[in-house]
Amino acid sequence: MKEYRDHYFLKAKQENYPARSVYKLQEIDAKFHLLFSGAHVLDLGACPGSWSLWAAKKVGKKGRILAADLHTPTVDFPPEVLFLKEDVFAISPAFAEQLKNLGPFDVVLSDMAPKTTGTRFTDQARSYDLACEALQVAREHLKPQGNFVVKIFMGPDVPKLQTAMRTDFGQVKTFKPKSSRSESKETFLIGLSFLGSDISRLPEASPSAPGQKPCEPEL
Ligand SMILES: C[S@@+](CC[C@H](N)C(=O)[O-])C[C@H]1O[C@@H](n2cnc3c(N)ncnc32)[C@H](O)[C@@H]1O
Repeated sequence: MKEYRDHYFLKAKQENYPARSVYKLQEIDAKFHLLFSGAHVLDLGACPGSWSLWAAKKVGKKGRILAADLHTPTVDFPPEVLFLKEDVFAISPAFAEQLKNLGPFDVVLSDMAPKTTGTRFTDQARSYDLACEALQVAREHLKPQGNFVVKIFMGPDVPKLQTAMRTDFGQVKTFKPKSSRSESKETFLIGLSFLGSDISRLPEASPSAPGQKPCEPEL
């Protein structure tokens, strides 16, 4: 197990990626073929920067990556990547403007994770909140037929997110990359072929019931 972890850690170092998480995106992309030359990609939770660096290589000079995180990465991004320090729960006017300028996007990625507390239910609930927020952003800024990748900690909320995503995407898949540590509680949901921003599904048009997250379909 340890050797397995070390393999990805060392490989990331050798290949100049700031985190081993790059191999999760590579596995996701190898399976679902999401990134292509010229694509516009939104990367939520982009720090320390591995996904954006690799996605920039895949989209090439004609592509664009809009990346956001609570923290500022220390890596130097190529010109195709525009990074903004952002909290997805409180999007700034500057970020909203870039979402408009660079969107709608072919792909929305969210590798966002909460700072873990060690309390399983709290961590799962926070991960679910981040995944819901990412889904809301995807609903507003994905192109029809676009694709969405979202990380979530495994727990009782995962089926709720899957159900919500099924209203928005032609197909919803679950994927646990081999490079994800086997003891990690994370999994990825992949929404393929976005059906379009049907305003009736958005919370402004149909207010959520008390306790219902905005990303969840009405009961
Ligand atoms: C696992 S890391 C992402 C790794 C990244 N994909 C990479 O390859 O370098 C998760 C990131 O989610 C970010 N994050 C957590 N909550 C966030 C929020 N509310 N808004 C923006 N980013 C957030 C964290 O700051 C952290 O950098």
